[in-house]
Amino acid sequence: MANQIQIFDTTLRDGEQAPGYSMNLEEKVRLARQLEILKVNVIEAGFAIASPGDSAAIEAVSDLIKECTVASLSRSLKKDIDASWKALRSAVKPRIHTFIATSDIHMEYKLKMQPEDVLQQAASMVAYARNLCPEVEFSAEDASRSSQEFLYRIFEAVIDAGARIINIPDTVGYTTPKEFGALIRGIRNNVPNIDKAVISVHCHNDLGLAVANTLEAVREGAVQLECTVNGIGERAGNAALEELIMSLKTRRDQYNVDFSIDTTRIHKTSRLLSTITGVLVQPNKAIVGANAFAHEAGIHQHGMMAHASTYEIMTPESIGLHRNTMVLGKHSGRHAFVERMKELGYTTEKSVMDEVFAQFKDLADRKKTVTDRDLEALMDTRSTLMIPTYILNQYVVNSGNTITATAAVILTKDKKNYEDVSTGDGPVDAAFNAIERITGISFTLEEYVIHAVTEGKDAQGEVSVRVSRDGKTYKGRGVSTDVIGASIKAYLFAVNNMIHEEKYETEH
Ligand code: KIV
Ligand code: ZN
Repeated sequence: MANQIQIFDTTLRDGEQAPGYSMNLEEKVRLARQLEILKVNVIEAGFAIASPGDSAAIEAVSDLIKECTVASLSRSLKKDIDASWKALRSAVKPRIHTFIATSDIHMEYKLKMQPEDVLQQAASMVAYARNLCPEVEFSAEDASRSSQEFLYRIFEAVIDAGARIINIPDTVGYTTPKEFGALIRGIRNNVPNIDKAVISVHCHNDLGLAVANTLEAVREGAVQLECTVNGIGERAGNAALEELIMSLKTRRDQYNVDFSIDTTRIHKTSRLLSTITGVLVQPNKAIVGANAFAHEAGIHQHGMMAHASTYEIMTPESIGLHRNTMVLGKHSGRHAFVERMKELGYTTEKSVMDEVFAQFKDLADRKKTVTDRDLEALMDTRSTLMIPTYILNQYVVNSGNTITATAAVILTKDKKNYEDVSTGDGPVDAAFNAIERITGISFTLEEYVIHAVTEGKDAQGEVSVRVSRDGKTYKGRGVSTDVIGASIKAYLFAVNNMIHEEKYETEH
């Protein structure tokens, strides 16, 4: 019988730690919900002690998620473990994930501890965590550069202390498939009580080998695979969930393992993460890149027309990407719209459907055909929790190569309209300045990214902005067939985000 692989998703912890990928509470909750739909086994929701924001997010995810285990990371310290347990308490399936570094380099220079003290601390903190939480995972940080004999001893000790999952990270992305496979085999054969624990691996991608190393570990009996959506994470990232899963599925002949992931949710999960973070996936990225299923060369197109299997080892449909997307237009009714949304995985309250349906009708008036990608963009750029303080009512911009750009903007707040006019260095800058004059909130624009949702001159533009103020950053996103409109929506989203977060912080 095939082994059942467990997917431990750390997008919200290791992934979120990487520069440019920070998410607020609402965004983390939204992604966690999608990870549950994707059917991952474990969601690592954060590092509770790291910040009040991390702790609040773990708590919110613990409240919401019923099907997956929810984990919080902790150093091997009582205060970290207490913080994790406090945040996890309401989870149906909580897990404390505790770690300590085991390589000579880390023990000497970072921990400044003797190996025997590290071993004692690891075991006693696992026992401490195990008294609080029914499930404890232990990670030997920098395991791939640690002495194997020391790893055997520390794993034996933590399993005796109650760890049910032992994780072997390639923290700095240094190992190679053959070497990592041998390490896992060594652990399986030399840790006497290994039958009482699940072997887990956690590979970083510094040499581009994270997925290859993880797959080699599967051959050697690793059961839990730690990974992130789109491969995001510290430095060059972690093993990409979508690449691991599609490798295991496509090459089942090689790995012979089963998993619970619903692969048809992969594309949507990847897109949602990009929309939330504003970081686009490189076009040639395996599985989820825009070109992953595109066949440009004539010879390839000819082969594909003759038979898809000539150049296609997996179908786009298997990751939830539909080749012949059903097209909606301005004559499509609410029923067809709702049905299509359901097929795309959106089931939401009636009021939200009504709002997005109105946006769809507006879009269909300006764009000949509305594709699945357009519908996804309308839905994913919305905020699900935040009630916006300011709503865009109207804008007019006047711009050209011989005049100073001017923008007039009307925003609505508490049913009252506020209007202002400003000039700027181009129409987008002028509109942002007008918003600043109305709201009295000024930001530094850190990042502005625009991309077309689909092909064609009437395509929608999706804008994401990252702005900062008093050392804090806020993100916003907007979509429209008019790039100025999309930019204004994105900027206003960031303003509303800031107001929402400040309100939340004063209330909690
Ligand atoms: O890369 C690493 O070693 C980690 C551990 C904390 C699991 O992220
Ligand atoms: Zn890591």
